[in-house]
Amino acid sequence: MGDHSMSEKASSQTGPNHIGIIMDGNGRWAQSQGLSRIKGHQQGVETCRRIIEACQALDVHYLTLYAFSAENWNRPETEVNGLMELLELFLMKETGTLKKKRVRLHAIGRIEDLPARPRAALKKAIEATKEFDEWHLILALNYSARNEVVDATQAIATLAANGALDPGSIDWDTISSHLYTGGLPDPDLIVRTSGETRLSNFLLMQSAYAEFYFTATCWPDFTKAHLEEAIRSYHNRERRFGRTGEQLDVETSLTY
Ligand code: FPP
Repeated sequence: MGDHSMSEKASSQTGPNHIGIIMDGNGRWAQSQGLSRIKGHQQGVETCRRIIEACQALDVHYLTLYAFSAENWNRPETEVNGLMELLELFLMKETGTLKKKRVRLHAIGRIEDLPARPRAALKKAIEATKEFDEWHLILALNYSARNEVVDATQAIATLAANGALDPGSIDWDTISSHLYTGGLPDPDLIVRTSGETRLSNFLLMQSAYAEFYFTATCWPDFTKAHLEEAIRSYHNRERRFGRTGEQLDVETSLTY
């Protein structure tokens, strides 16, 4: 059986529930317009606003944005400071809208190492939206998937050393619940803009079964129409989770 049209039909009716985005190309976009890099990031923040709104319109309940990686500290100090100011401004300006739209804010990464002002704004925004549970915006800040594994391992090892956990009982659920994303669903679709095709230390554990979509469009130019194109591409794929296409056909004919 080579025809999997039934399972494609099935997948076209669901999800993605969670999209992760590697927002790349702010600097190149700015350069192409003769602007400073920070102007590119400013425009990138506008795209964040647009895409948060688009996700609600497109029934995407979880959106994770890679806003600052643990490696981004290596950028020139002026750019790092500019990004931290933009983060603080975004949080101060956007919390009202998030509340109005009933979006819960989360942060993943080594948040304790962010500068005091954006860290305080983040804490306030998370607190202000914690009652919501239908729509979720997750900001990856000072995030590194490898650090995440290190931090989860240390937490689990501490529990085991204190006798609170039997090392033999450690399974994927134990590890997954100790990742920064504990309690959140895995991403179904990872998007990266600006033509790069790397994961750059983003959600490595959580994207084990994710689909990937790469586009040449730089983040400041990314629109709802581009997101819809990524979702269309996702719908045209067959997600097997280790099963054969034939198994999916049988399951689909049972379900639909
Ligand atoms: C990559 O573009 C983007 C980043 C390193 C940061 C992304 C940040 C934003 C969109 C703004 C901050 C976000 C929030 C939510 C406040 P790049 O500068 O690496 O682009 P380049 O590869 O063209 O130089």
